[in-house]
Amino acid sequence: MCGIVGYIGTRDATPIILNGLKRLEYRGYDSAGVAVINGNQIEVRRDAGKLSQLIDLVSKDPVKGAPGIGHTRWATHGAPSARNAHPHVGNSGKVVIVHNGIVENFLELKEELTSEGVIFNSETDTETIVHLAEYLKASGNSLEEVARKTFNRIEGANVVVMMTTEEPDKIVTARIGNAGGVVIGLGENENFIASDIPAILEHTRKVIFLESRQMAIITRDSVQVKTLDGQEIKPEIHTIAWDAVSAEKGEYRHFMQKEIHEQVRALTDTLAGRVDFQEGRIRLPELKLTPELAKRIQRIYITACGTAAYAGMVGKYLIEKIARVPVEVVIASEFRYSDPILDENTVVLAISQSGETADTLAAMEEGRRKGAVIWSIVNAIGSQAMRIADGFISMQTGPEVGVASTKAFTAPLVDQYMLAILLADLRGVLDDKTRKSLVSDLRLVPDLAGRVMDTEADVEKVAHVLKDIKNCLYLGRGINMPIAYEGALKLKEISYIHAEGYPAGEMKHGPIALIDEEMPVLCIAPKDPWHEKMISQIQQAKARGGIVIAIATEGDELVKNMADHALWVPEAPWMLSPIITVLPLQLLAYHIAAIRGLDVDQPRNLAKSVTVE
Ligand code: AGP
Repeated sequence: MCGIVGYIGTRDATPIILNGLKRLEYRGYDSAGVAVINGNQIEVRRDAGKLSQLIDLVSKDPVKGAPGIGHTRWATHGAPSARNAHPHVGNSGKVVIVHNGIVENFLELKEELTSEGVIFNSETDTETIVHLAEYLKASGNSLEEVARKTFNRIEGANVVVMMTTEEPDKIVTARIGNAGGVVIGLGENENFIASDIPAILEHTRKVIFLESRQMAIITRDSVQVKTLDGQEIKPEIHTIAWDAVSAEKGEYRHFMQKEIHEQVRALTDTLAGRVDFQEGRIRLPELKLTPELAKRIQRIYITACGTAAYAGMVGKYLIEKIARVPVEVVIASEFRYSDPILDENTVVLAISQSGETADTLAAMEEGRRKGAVIWSIVNAIGSQAMRIADGFISMQTGPEVGVASTKAFTAPLVDQYMLAILLADLRGVLDDKTRKSLVSDLRLVPDLAGRVMDTEADVEKVAHVLKDIKNCLYLGRGINMPIAYEGALKLKEISYIHAEGYPAGEMKHGPIALIDEEMPVLCIAPKDPWHEKMISQIQQAKARGGIVIAIATEGDELVKNMADHALWVPEAPWMLSPIITVLPLQLLAYHIAAIRGLDVDQPRNLAKSVTVE
């Protein structure tokens, strides 16, 4: 997902923009650039590659002045290159833009503009926007009108930030759909624009979130928000509680390592204000779950992508077991095109760390279109998935910077556990004693997680054993079966080793043919209702010469005598065990990737939030 930073005020824009783009590096990108209005000139510096190359370019050929806009690009149309990098300037040199999203009708626009004699200099869809904007500017439109009319021509989900030498006292931005967020930061005699909060947090905590089909006209001392058809809006001003440090690495080598360890606090935070341990009650006010709604819900579809979908697979076990409501988990990229059978008694529950994932948002919209109740569990405050839902649960873990999701996997496990208890309580299917016991178990989670963090050195040893493997199988059963998928994904996405998560019970139906001394098998075998089955799974793998690494409960002599290696976790109530069994797998993937010297926080080809299909 592209990163955008803009500045207007009395200071030089470039250093502010470059620092802001650094805070957005986690989103994944392949080129970067900055543009500043200097007198009646637009000065642009841009290049393919990492931000460090742009910083180097700017240090050799400085650019002064304000306002300015900057961009980190994740290539969609046109390979990563200097000429395809943003910002893009029109041929008259009067208008400059940065863009996030996809102009779905760009070929039609390109043909129209080319027939008017416009020369194109890149392979991007973005260029159609700047030439259209320049054409409108040349026809006497104000920058505000240019933005409005441009957005009436381009199709698809897009965010555009534009400036012109003819109105150097303002920056205009507009947004349609879910092509990533637009955050406007309010300063003293200066204002900021960014695609995400960390980029401007060191300057201000007062922000406005631009909604879809809205635009903002920003000067150094004013921010006007309007709908795309010109109606003025009084925007809500939010104050961000995070501090700039929380978006920093601290004493850890990578954001991912910090965020794995942060889960002890994040699991506490996601409980904060929601659990009455005295009464054994759960409070989730933003979910807006009334007794009437609780009683009429007949089915819940959980929809998400990647790691979030695996969190939903655990949620299915929790909600069905505790609330006795049927749950189906459907990955969002399938759900959105599956013509699902929904009605007002169905809930579509979306899980999304970024709250901006295009497939997940589209799945929510499909649910809305068919009359379902829309819920979401989201981490990014103010994101689309939080704002378009009828009710939501905020993960409350603070910013997750590493592309590989860790705390934003375990937090929704707790959130779904709490949702299940509340739903069961309101449906009257939970006796007092059981409810109080389930709620009381939540108290154990942060401490159990902390005890797993103490085993990091043991995990690192196993990482050294596995660092050169080419393939790996992850096996789990029951509520820990999704942990096999999640553990495998963690290894794949940061160490680039092929790893496959599989339901352990399925091995005898084919995949067991893969097992030999070249195919290590990670067996997730805690003391849960499926423990016995997993013990026999370990025996089957050993009998075929497989190397078995077990995630097992401390003191399990059976596993100790059978497995080649064991990563021990403390005993946990079985419904909360996935929160604990996933932790050594996160640490294992992290250390293997770190030993292999890979870019753990920004793995190749990946982005923190995939805002395109
Ligand atoms: C997580 O490790 C992955 N990077 C990816 O699968 C991610 O979970 C997925 O893209 C969904 O993102 P979201 O939670 O922001 O919607």
